[in-house]
Amino acid sequence: MSAPVIEKPRLREGAFGNATALSCRECGHQVELGPHYACPECFGPLEIAYDFPRVTREQIEAGPRNIWRYKALLPVPDDIEQSPNTEPGFTRLLRADNLAAELGIADLWVKDDSTNPTNSFKDRVVACALSAAREFGAKVFACPSTGNLANAVAAAGARAGIKTVVFIPSNLEQPKQVNSAVFTDSLVAVEGNYDDVNKLASEIAGEEEGWAFVNVNVRPYYAEGSKTLGYEIAEQLGWRLPDQIVIPVASGSQLTKVHKAFQELIALGLVEDKPYKVYGAQATGCSPVSVAYKAGVDAIRPVKPDTIAKSLAIGNPADGIYVLDICRGTGGAVEDVTDDEVRAGIVQLARTEGIFTETAGGTTVAVLKKLVETGQLDTTLETVVINTGHGLKTLDSVAGAVAPAATIDSSYAAFAATGLA
Ligand SMILES: Cc1ncc(COP(=O)(O)O)c(C=O)c1O
Ligand SMILES: [Zn+2]
Repeated sequence: MSAPVIEKPRLREGAFGNATALSCRECGHQVELGPHYACPECFGPLEIAYDFPRVTREQIEAGPRNIWRYKALLPVPDDIEQSPNTEPGFTRLLRADNLAAELGIADLWVKDDSTNPTNSFKDRVVACALSAAREFGAKVFACPSTGNLANAVAAAGARAGIKTVVFIPSNLEQPKQVNSAVFTDSLVAVEGNYDDVNKLASEIAGEEEGWAFVNVNVRPYYAEGSKTLGYEIAEQLGWRLPDQIVIPVASGSQLTKVHKAFQELIALGLVEDKPYKVYGAQATGCSPVSVAYKAGVDAIRPVKPDTIAKSLAIGNPADGIYVLDICRGTGGAVEDVTDDEVRAGIVQLARTEGIFTETAGGTTVAVLKKLVETGQLDTTLETVVINTGHGLKTLDSVAGAVAPAATIDSSYAAFAATGLA
């Protein structure tokens, strides 16, 4: 389906790098590169198809310390670095020995994406969507968002000098609202949940001309940005794939793209082919994929979210069925944890590794713990857990769980009485 929005663009040569077409994930039907997102034959989701040239580790390593070092593998032009953008990526992959010891895991890493320009992995996808929006000549850069995406779109649009309009559920955490409103004068808070906001965005995309909704009508380009998480993890491990990886799931896009990235690296000969297990993490209050996984069914039944993990609160996940395929196909699993476990996950990562994650990361760490406790994860294998966002954006979620150990007057006697010495 074409969004009528962005007028049939005259694309410049090389506008999408080595991308050749849009290909239907369901039936394989191909359409030409454009602002399309659904297959005209079967309404399946469209994905980018490429004709990759030979790419070497040395070429990539000589690139900038951001996602554009992988530009040959993304739907972006060769001169992408010349266009103002937030230059996300190449975040730290940290050994997590303290957390590993607490959980009884031999070999654990945290990919810490909370240090991206607007403090979540969404800067990666937005940078790719911005490039597509530019190439299509879009006038407005927009999104429906559970929070982090709104922050990333608003900031990237400001830097690129393109008008932004971002839509969020009105009950979103206040820091996430401020983190958008500071970059744009067009933050729209919608009374409803994310799925209501998403529906409204699709309607606007169908009505208004020149609007690029990053995760609606330019979604195929946007989603490719998450592949860079997979590329970086492999490169930072010394051009090697981990044995197991735990990834939070909202729409499921990120998880499918990390898997796609690993497959591409294998196909390009950049890493050795080996098995790896992919695990999805959800909060119990919004766990449609985990519920389907545990029931052993293929269909995902939409839910009404009720969880503190608002960034993961997508009740009708677009890529949920592909997450099931990947987690089952690789021998991984999908698991979910309660809000109390999410809070405990946030505090555990903070106190073991000095990383303050948001509720999505709390969910992922808590799921990692549950996977170990339930014997679903092999504790002897090398494991990576992705931290996708920053705790300062969801302070309220742990405000009741952490507090000063004592409030005292400024005398030594008062301090001594606390027993902290
Ligand atoms: C911090 C954070 N982590 C993970 C996700 C999940 O991403 P996806 O929708 O690609 O599954 C989101 C989505 O909004 C997010 O904000
Ligand atoms: Zn199709």
